[in-house]
Amino acid sequence: MADRVKKKNDFFSVTDNQKTLHKNLKFTATEQYKLLRTNLLFTMTEAEGCKIIGVTSSMRGEGKSTTAVNLSYVLAESGKKVILIDGDLRIPSIAKKMQIDSGPGLADLLRGESTIDLSGLRSQQLPNWYIMPAGSLPPNPSELLGSKRMEAALKGLSAHFDYIIVDLPPVNIVSDALAISKYITGMILVIREEYCEKKELENCIRQLKLSNVNVLGCVMNGTKAGKGYYSKYRYKRYYKYYKTYGGYDSAEKISGGQVND
Ligand SMILES: Nc1ncnc2c1ncn2[C@@H]1O[C@H](COP(=O)(O)OP(=O)(O)OP(=O)(O)O)[C@@H](O)[C@H]1O
Ligand SMILES: [Mg+2]
Repeated sequence: MADRVKKKNDFFSVTDNQKTLHKNLKFTATEQYKLLRTNLLFTMTEAEGCKIIGVTSSMRGEGKSTTAVNLSYVLAESGKKVILIDGDLRIPSIAKKMQIDSGPGLADLLRGESTIDLSGLRSQQLPNWYIMPAGSLPPNPSELLGSKRMEAALKGLSAHFDYIIVDLPPVNIVSDALAISKYITGMILVIREEYCEKKELENCIRQLKLSNVNVLGCVMNGTKAGKGYYSKYRYKRYYKYYKTYGGYDSAEKISGGQVND
């Protein structure tokens, strides 16, 4: 376990990690992740057993990986046994963010080239928080994520965990998130304020709908705090927009979880 951690003592001073984990987050952001956790737990009360949650967005850089790390962390912090999987087999970032080795990981497992010892995936931060990196990058990520091996891997992991959080690439760029969607309980859509373009979001929601993806709700990322900016109005604007274009009944069950910096 210890040898997976490259810079044990530097962990909390890594710049990119300033957006991850409680020690680096402002109080308001921490609280929003906890709110997201609460909303998620309420949204999925009917689902039994291990819940598998994908995290995606329309475009690159909206905060999917940051959200996946923080969400999995707060779930583990509440006592759940959680594994965070880097399902971005094109531009993975979880290993870098968490300062762990990049393999062996999901891609190796799906290619059948390795069996992964779960105890080796245990995080340094919490005993019930596990992290699976992407592994060595494959030429066919979409096929791997939609494969029977993926289904079998998730089924196998479900026996060990309460939650599986899968960080995915953006919907509008590649089909990977849609490919894995048939094997997951639901998807969280991250929308970065003043970054995600309306037509991109519209296209993304159309794609999710066409593929019958169970969208649990959306997370507004990058909402600015203070001076009324972090207001109900801004949230409602996006939420209404999401509902209008999404038309998902389930979307009404979750109230997002704004995450500010
Ligand atoms: N709320 C925020 N405020 C400021 N910076 C943020 C916020 N959320 C994420 N970031 C930063 O934006 C960058 C992109 O975030 P992240 O890697 O989580 O996005 P992503 O959607 O996973 O990107 P990609 O599509 O490339 O995988 C990172 O440097 C991250 O630290
Ligand atoms: Mg990412």
